[in-house]
Amino acid sequence: MNSSLRTVLEETVRNPGGITVLTGAGISAESGIPTFRGPEGYWTVGSAVYRPEEMATWAMFSRKPEEVWRWYLYRLGVCRRAEPNTGHRALVGMEHLLGERFTLITQNVDGLHLRAGNSRERTLEIHGNLNFMRCAVACDDAVYPIPDTVLPTREEEGLRLSALPRCPRCGALARPHVLLFDECYNEIHYHLDSALSAAAQTTLLIVVGTSGATNLPNQVARLVFQRGGVIVDVNPNTNPFAELARRNEQGFICQGTAAAVLPELLHVMAGAGGWSGS
Ligand code: OAD
Repeated sequence: MNSSLRTVLEETVRNPGGITVLTGAGISAESGIPTFRGPEGYWTVGSAVYRPEEMATWAMFSRKPEEVWRWYLYRLGVCRRAEPNTGHRALVGMEHLLGERFTLITQNVDGLHLRAGNSRERTLEIHGNLNFMRCAVACDDAVYPIPDTVLPTREEEGLRLSALPRCPRCGALARPHVLLFDECYNEIHYHLDSALSAAAQTTLLIVVGTSGATNLPNQVARLVFQRGGVIVDVNPNTNPFAELARRNEQGFICQGTAAAVLPELLHVMAGAGGWSGS
């Protein structure tokens, strides 16, 4: 590893201040979950009938809830069969090392960070989680696990749907607990304020596997940048966060995969923190 990066990581661990990791689909690519905009990506391949930007919208859900549920249950099946990789596990190590100084902001709806062992308290799932649903008419804000009765057992079974999930409280149609394209971020479901407030305390931001196509991640990175925090971009390809890291006084670009790079970053941070880890 670049010796200046090593020094910056050691210093940020030894000094006070928040350390935030912002993840995107790239971290789960090595767990076998397609990204959105890569060659095999969900948004590139799309569905048989609808373009993704039509499919993942409230407008489509209100007209064709069954179609939208099929699509999300198919993706849920893919996520349930996937396992967290060494990149996810390295972030569990960072949380153990840093405790309340650590925040994980993830755009991923696959739930793999929580399955790997990051805590709910320190993980902000800003695009929701495919494993959950909530009332489509918002009778309240409760979020419920998707019942096993509607879960696909095999990939192809995910395309058949016997009954649409219902809100356990009022019986209305339930909806996937994910941010749709024609919806806005909020705190109650998508941790908007918590993510911005973590960014305002952040001295080191590690951005992993995201193309920077959505709004809140860009706001988070810009806030850290403007306050003089260090930005480290982990991605085999270039992206807007790499550009920000390049313009950042102490920024770094780690051009590699999440599963390869994150354990190295953890190793250095753990050395500086005098932590043996587990
Ligand atoms: P994208 O598919 O847009 O970008 C994936 C990024 O991961 C790219 O920059 C790749 O270069 C990088 N990548 C690929 N393999 C990697 C690996 N092994 N290690 C590290 N990086 C790797 O996915 P996101 O940026 O996550 O939102 O997409 C952001 C949001 O756009 C998604 O959460 C989704 C989508 O619309 C909603 O649905 C609300």
